[in-house]
Amino acid sequence: MLESPIGSSAEGGPSAQTHEFAMHFALRHATLAPSSHNSQPWRFVLGEDSVMLCADRLRALPVVDPYDRELIISCGAALFNLRVALASLGIGYAITLFPSSVDPDLLAEVRLHRNRPTGGELAALVSTIQERVTTRHAFSPEPVDVTIERHLMEAARAEGVEVACVSATEPRNAIADLVAEADRQQFADPRFRRELAKWIHPRHTDDGMPAYAAGLGSLLDFATPLVASAIRTFDLGGGVAATHRELAVGSPLLLCLATGVDDAQAWLATGQALERVLLVATLHGLCASYLNQPIEMGGLRARLGPLAGLPNAYFPQLLLRIGHGTPDAATPRRPLAEVVS
Ligand SMILES: Cc1cc2nc3c(=O)[nH]c(=O)nc-3n(C[C@H](O)[C@H](O)[C@H](O)COP(=O)(O)O)c2cc1C
Repeated sequence: MLESPIGSSAEGGPSAQTHEFAMHFALRHATLAPSSHNSQPWRFVLGEDSVMLCADRLRALPVVDPYDRELIISCGAALFNLRVALASLGIGYAITLFPSSVDPDLLAEVRLHRNRPTGGELAALVSTIQERVTTRHAFSPEPVDVTIERHLMEAARAEGVEVACVSATEPRNAIADLVAEADRQQFADPRFRRELAKWIHPRHTDDGMPAYAAGLGSLLDFATPLVASAIRTFDLGGGVAATHRELAVGSPLLLCLATGVDDAQAWLATGQALERVLLVATLHGLCASYLNQPIEMGGLRARLGPLAGLPNAYFPQLLLRIGHGTPDAATPRRPLAEVVS
């Protein structure tokens, strides 16, 4: 449990020690964000009254994510958690996105304004940051309440990102077919398999996905090194496609995040929208997982928008499945000392 450091500081103003605790609290929450393959591709540079969020492209996934699109989305999710944590501490902030014209790795400068607290809307989400996990098991068929669905859509749009929700059987089946097609294509590529296998580690490491989080259907029963080795060696695409198709068909709600342009700004916004949607879903007791495969395969991405009912000319960025289920165990994170300077 991450205890809030604030509370005793209200009278005398924040001491240096309280400031240190507050930054630790905010950054620890930032690093609990989801990231593709749990690569945690972020770095934070602390100034006296600022935090710079930087992309760590050494942790890129060149096969599945050749343009670092998902890498920037992951950093956006960390930025959203940082905003929520600061808001929960009553610390105001102003954010400059892409503050450098020469360094594209500088994604956001967050300037702290202690005397200008932010609204409480985000603060209410802070406890969900630790609760949120990616849950790759099947969800129950119980539908997602339409009011909650509306809250999820509002969460995405509040971050400037378009969203489409799919709960009807026919389009859900068509999207499930597309996911399965993408799985088959991805697993036929030995480079994709090698990259995925590299990020499946035993439990004790600080990054990557433990076996239980690998989300590979019956393969979940294997010991971790065997899972990684099997993925590296064999084209398991048929089995994975069937599993994911079933999961997509059986999930009561598919949710697609999309943007009007497809650049780093849009990806950073998508990451913030993703985490806002996931935290609101968690608040309402819902589980979520990803079916991004068609978006990761250039040839299939354009087919997803019309199936999901997105407005024309929007770029799908993430495809989630959402429903009621039993949350999976949490995955590990790198210590703050490794990601903060
Ligand atoms: C941009 C992005 C893409 C992701 N894509 C997938 C995916 O295609 N399949 C999947 O099972 N998980 C996907 N994930 C989930 C990550 O694997 C997960 O966040 C990570 O392992 C950490 O686990 P946690 O979410 O439980 O904290 C994605 C996460 C992000 C942020």
